[in-house]
Amino acid sequence: MQKNSSKNIQNKKVFITGASSGIGLALCERYLKEGWKVIGLARDISKIPNSTKDNENFEFIKTDLSNFETSRSIIDDVFKKNKDISTFILNAGIYTPDSFNNFNFRNAEKTFSTNVLSIYLILELVNLNFDFNSNLTLAIMSSTAGYKGLPRSVLYGPSKAALINLAESIKSENHENLNIKLICPGFVKTPATKVNDFKMPYLISANRAASIIFDKIYKKGFEITFPFPFNSIMKFGKILPYKLYFKFTKKKFSKK
Ligand SMILES: NC(=O)c1ccc[n+]([C@@H]2O[C@H](COP(=O)([O-])OP(=O)(O)OC[C@H]3O[C@@H](n4cnc5c(N)ncnc54)[C@H](OP(=O)(O)O)[C@@H]3O)[C@@H](O)[C@H]2O)c1
Repeated sequence: MQKNSSKNIQNKKVFITGASSGIGLALCERYLKEGWKVIGLARDISKIPNSTKDNENFEFIKTDLSNFETSRSIIDDVFKKNKDISTFILNAGIYTPDSFNNFNFRNAEKTFSTNVLSIYLILELVNLNFDFNSNLTLAIMSSTAGYKGLPRSVLYGPSKAALINLAESIKSENHENLNIKLICPGFVKTPATKVNDFKMPYLISANRAASIIFDKIYKKGFEITFPFPFNSIMKFGKILPYKLYFKFTKKKFSKK
């Protein structure tokens, strides 16, 4: 299935995880503006502005995605009650800049539970509750940080690399009526990236990111990656021989 725009979608109901801030919140607001019903999932509703949470087309689902048992039951219930969801944007994720000499296993567990395993949990529930012949759109939020190993990314990068491979794997199965999208942003200004103490090249706003995603999600193509030229630089890094690649990362990601 390849639609040209959101106008062709019959059921305008979207399920977005990570809805309380950053890119997820901006996506919720964009979909609401376009007249969609939005089911937004996160842990903390207090981060969502009143104008969004009071919108009659917005429903908030509170759950901690790293708590699998609770999330399974809550999300299964949401899916059973909302069989008309046509778009799933699996966006929730955590980011901590961990390096080899300061990471710990607890953070590794938290990162992989939230960023990777919760995606499998939701995908299983999508499989159980929805018919893939009914033109579903499924978007998985990865990152250009998943393309290849980066400094201070020993947890986050591998979690996002797993999602790239996961989305590729689903796409490679050729589910005819499934619009599967892999989203790989570069740096976006959100609460998550506030912790970065290095210069973030080509940083864009969350609203800009949401706008690019919304404009591309129902169009042809598998990957939605931005901003240009950062995404191209990162893609170039992907194909560089390791020796040159590590010179490049040293130059590009040195501290401020
Ligand atoms: N910002 C960037 O530069 C960038 C670049 C590439 C990819 N990304 C990806 O884009 C996604 C959104 O990131 P962001 O920058 O917008 O970060 P953000 O502002 O920190 O938003 C993260 C969202 O995920 C939710 N979340 C985190 N842990 C959760 C949990 N255990 N259970 C339920 N919800 C949880 C948060 O809500 P609560 O805290 O309320 O639960 C929040 O709504 C992430 O997957 C991130 O990896 C971001």
